[in-house]
Amino acid sequence: MLDLISQKKHDENRQGEAFAPEAVDVQQFSKKFYIESYGCAMNFSDSEVVASILHEGGFGATRNFEEADLILVNTCSIREKAEQTVRQRLTELRKAKQRNPGTLIGVLGCMAERLKGKLLEEEKLVDLVVGPDAYRTLPGLIAEAETGQKAVNVLLSREETYADIAPVRLNTDGIAAFVSIMRGCNNMCSFCVVPFTRGRERSRDAASIVNECRQLSDNGYKEVTLLGQNVDSYYWVDEKNDTIVTFAQLLEMVALINPDLRVRFSTSHPKDITDDVLHTIAKYENICNYIHLPVQSGSTRVLQLMNRTYTREWYIAKVDRIRSIIPDCGISSDIIAGFCTETEEEHQETMSLMEYSQYDMSYMFFYSERPGTLAARRYEDDIPEEVKKRRLDEIVKLQNRLSHESNQRDMGKTFKVLIDGDSKKSANDWKGRTSQNKTIVFPKGSHDVNKGDYVMVKVTDCTVATLLGEIV
Ligand code: SAH
Ligand code: SF4
Ligand code: F3S
Repeated sequence: MLDLISQKKHDENRQGEAFAPEAVDVQQFSKKFYIESYGCAMNFSDSEVVASILHEGGFGATRNFEEADLILVNTCSIREKAEQTVRQRLTELRKAKQRNPGTLIGVLGCMAERLKGKLLEEEKLVDLVVGPDAYRTLPGLIAEAETGQKAVNVLLSREETYADIAPVRLNTDGIAAFVSIMRGCNNMCSFCVVPFTRGRERSRDAASIVNECRQLSDNGYKEVTLLGQNVDSYYWVDEKNDTIVTFAQLLEMVALINPDLRVRFSTSHPKDITDDVLHTIAKYENICNYIHLPVQSGSTRVLQLMNRTYTREWYIAKVDRIRSIIPDCGISSDIIAGFCTETEEEHQETMSLMEYSQYDMSYMFFYSERPGTLAARRYEDDIPEEVKKRRLDEIVKLQNRLSHESNQRDMGKTFKVLIDGDSKKSANDWKGRTSQNKTIVFPKGSHDVNKGDYVMVKVTDCTVATLLGEIV
């Protein structure tokens, strides 16, 4: 979720990645699993829960699917293209079965939930189908599949949060980690498949969240991102102490763990983010000044069809509120081009709202009808593909300009930067992020600093996607 500006990347939240923990000694396990994740950060976070459950079940992780006894693909259904990518990949991975017929292939995540047994029974692409709330049953399902039975569990739960499972960090840089704080979504945006694939919203025990973040901090991590589809509706009733914990309070609890631990969160719904949350961000230096506030459309009529429950004016007031309480806050967005019945004027309204909001970056998509959603049932997907693509192209070009302008406004300013590793282009340069979530690249020089350190960096130049600077 944290990258931007190539058209390709905007098509999916993240590309599939093969994940295996560096530190795990595969020798200590009798069998090996390989896992690949697609879609949003929630899926990447879930794969870490799955890895933990599989360790308990006697499987160690490998980065090489050719040597795996179990190949898992954690999938995304958000747009049609996301599903196509996964289908192609499953076909490729099936080749491993020709070499070793004993290999099991399983599909996890949102496509498993949406398609249920279909991938197994009709398409015979996989041996195992497990939905997002059923990962605890994986060891039993694997045992069933090993004996040639159909292994499917796609039951959704109203309670499951995997609160007690310590995730095995996959492919980690040892600096930043995702921490899931809630699951599911109750919002029913008309275009969106997530309420169907992830089920009802439920929050995770606040104490278990704080414990997980504290452990990460104790293990040297410097940044946690609290994850949920709609973090602002986080709500935990602590029955023991007869108290409730709101998202603002949770943020504060996590911020207080260690002033050197940066706290981020995603995603905020514009209708739910409160002044309390904004004041909490402003109050704590280690809560990053960055809010991902997806607008989807700039037209009140389209927003109503999307069931987003706010208007253009309401969104503008929210942006104003953020800027007044947190003056140097980074704001980013998600935008859908060509939703059902969207007119040219309404498309222009989206562009003008982007200008108003001065987004630092956006994830931009053209509308993809998803079976079963409110929009699929109620509205005709009537904008021709070439119009959708042209509108998306205009939106991407505008965002590139806005991102560049935002970076230019930072020239000459000095930021506290968390170093997350070598720059992609040169081992002589560090790469890190500002509180506003911008990537900044700067020469290592002779400074005695390392990955995971904070440094003050002055911005001297920029591109559309990156700030360039020097340590001061
Ligand atoms: N819970 C988050 C977003 C989840 S999905 C939120 O409410 O903001 C991430 C993004 O994918 C959405 O914000 C939306 O912009 C996009 N998206 C979701 N369904 C889509 C569809 N059917 N077609 C195109 N884009 C879609
Ligand atoms: Fe989908 Fe809307 Fe829920 Fe986000 S808030 S996951 S877009 S239904
Ligand atoms: Fe995709 Fe499911 Fe996330 S549909 S965006 S992986 S919640």
